Amino acid sequence: MNFSAELIAWYEQNKRDLPWRNTTDAYMIWLSEIILQQTRVEQGLPYFYRFAERYPTVRDFATASEDEVLRLWQGLGYYSRGRNMLKTAQLVEALHQGVFPTDYDQLIKLKGVGEYTAAAISSFSANEARAVVDGNVYRVLARYFGIDEPINTPKGKKIFQQIADDVLDVKHPALHNQAMMEFGALLCKPRNPACGICPVRTGCAAFKSNATQLLPVKVKKVKVRKRYFNYMLIYGDGKILMNKRGDNDIWANMYDLPMIETDELLEPVQVMALPEMQIFGKNVTLLDNSGVVKHILTHQHLFIRFMMLKDFPPELHGNWFYADISSLEKLAMPKSIIIFIKNIFNF
Ligand code: ADE
Repeated sequence: MNFSAELIAWYEQNKRDLPWRNTTDAYMIWLSEIILQQTRVEQGLPYFYRFAERYPTVRDFATASEDEVLRLWQGLGYYSRGRNMLKTAQLVEALHQGVFPTDYDQLIKLKGVGEYTAAAISSFSANEARAVVDGNVYRVLARYFGIDEPINTPKGKKIFQQIADDVLDVKHPALHNQAMMEFGALLCKPRNPACGICPVRTGCAAFKSNATQLLPVKVKKVKVRKRYFNYMLIYGDGKILMNKRGDNDIWANMYDLPMIETDELLEPVQVMALPEMQIFGKNVTLLDNSGVVKHILTHQHLFIRFMMLKDFPPELHGNWFYADISSLEKLAMPKSIIIFIKNIFNF
């Protein structure tokens, strides 16, 4: 038996009885696939029943109110899925007279339906020969064929789709796809794959080389942190209020201005209303402000704004100190601070 036939034989013996597997109704399959995006089967099941009962056809769904859909969706998270579903149902009503399409090329045009979902619906509902590639399939293929190409790059995605297409049983695409996914979900699991009872382990590259835990490979995407720095420019009598930075953040031990960091981009008047502003004194007022300057660091994007304040001199706070404007050149400052201050004081 080849790879696909082995998995199908295993599937027939071991599959879970799930409601969307006992239908070829493209609408019901779509419902299940959207609900199961980013959701485990056990968690998604009650929601599937709830939606299937309340909206037995896509036409029923299309006439629902957004409020009601969101209420039914409550607790499942990623609420844009619920909202997009309503739009898709309405589009199917308008474009296809309430008959949910079953062919890949029509499905892929629908909102919220990507390559995986279009392949799943077209194969499960109409046995179109389309290979699904979801997280389970990536893992099964990477291990069985010993592929260490990362799965989350455009190149990797292309390679895995090609292999999935190559191994697809074109005579039984629905069965094949369900078998691949179920095998990945129940046996070839991410952490503790059940290699001891695996029907294809003799042909499995990862099993042979003891590499199941190393596959599939993913490239780490560095997460960029966005930060919003609201710098306060306070000066008078030839002096400017400065700050010496601590040693456990960017620009360690360098000099900048007093600053209030916020979680999002705020307008200067909103910054002025923050309780933290009290450190600048009770009667502080905003004289002027700059636009927002973006400063890009390796893992951080800084959004910097300068606000010119009146109420000189406030009490010193933390590492603040007054510097003579004539001595600014001696202080190590981040570039965006230097550019701004130079512009104002021409030093
Ligand atoms: N997750 C996404 N689609 C699924 C399906 N058809 N069966 C089981 N789990 C799934």
